[in-house]
Amino acid sequence: MPDLRIEFRNVTKRFPPRGAGAQPVVAVQNVSVSIGDGEIVALIGPSGCGKSTLLNMGSGLYLPSDGEVRIDGQLVSGPNPQVAFMLQKDLLLPWRTIQQNAEFGLEVRGMPARERRERAKALLAKCHLAGFENHYPHQLSGGMRQRAALARTLAVDPVVLLMDEPFSALDAQTKMVLQQDLARTLAAEKKTALLITHDLVESITLADRVLVMSQRPGTIIEEIRLDDLPDRDNPMVRRSRPRVHEYAARLMELLHIYDTADARAV
Ligand SMILES: Nc1ncnc2c1ncn2[C@@H]1O[C@H](COP(=O)(O)OP(=O)(O)OP(=O)(O)O)[C@@H](O)[C@H]1O
Ligand SMILES: [Mg+2]
Repeated sequence: MPDLRIEFRNVTKRFPPRGAGAQPVVAVQNVSVSIGDGEIVALIGPSGCGKSTLLNMGSGLYLPSDGEVRIDGQLVSGPNPQVAFMLQKDLLLPWRTIQQNAEFGLEVRGMPARERRERAKALLAKCHLAGFENHYPHQLSGGMRQRAALARTLAVDPVVLLMDEPFSALDAQTKMVLQQDLARTLAAEKKTALLITHDLVESITLADRVLVMSQRPGTIIEEIRLDDLPDRDNPMVRRSRPRVHEYAARLMELLHIYDTADARAV
């Protein structure tokens, strides 16, 4: 096992009851996940099962009710700069150019202007945005904005990247192009990442392992290792492998997607 970058140890999250007579909501129950250096782990599960809650505990935005989260062995007790987030919504600052957005995290950390300009520019080029540095977010397409968000996320050189459905708002083709960009960039930068997605094929084409969560209270019900699927840095190629369909069928089974009369009739 390589060095552990992020660990969730027996983590439970209960939200307090809302209103008289209401019960607390147990969003995540006794979840343990360890992600080693350079690994990409995908997390799938039904809507409302606690995936985003788990991710938010990884970032320190929420603290666990029980258990603990560690990044590089250090206990997470609040938001910390070792973790970077990428969400469905790009969260770019509308009044800053793409270049200024990509530099933002470095600026906050006090990196000298020339150094941060060069780093941000190089990452924007890697994310295929060379020539658009001086555009504002509203002047870009949804896919380009998500690439800019990726460049900004990588600019701060986080220990762990946490991604919550980063491509779910994009059309199918743009999504495939971005998956390719993401996979290449994560491989080149040797990044560790936890990716939430509802897209089963996306989980199989991008990850080393897929974790499946149950209905709320969310627990991990299965871990599927994708060791026999090469080309993690090239999802276009990986996607065409027959094994992908076998894994997708297994995930559908685990998520009970087959449990309808229509599916059984096929
Ligand atoms: N800040 C909060 N306060 C109270 N309850 C919350 C809070 N955040 C999440 N929850 C509850 O925790 C449960 C899990 O929510 P969560 O957003 O983690 O689900 P999810 O798996 O990410 O769902 P989706 O796939 O729809 O994004 C839900 O019942 C939700 O109402
Ligand atoms: Mg969610």
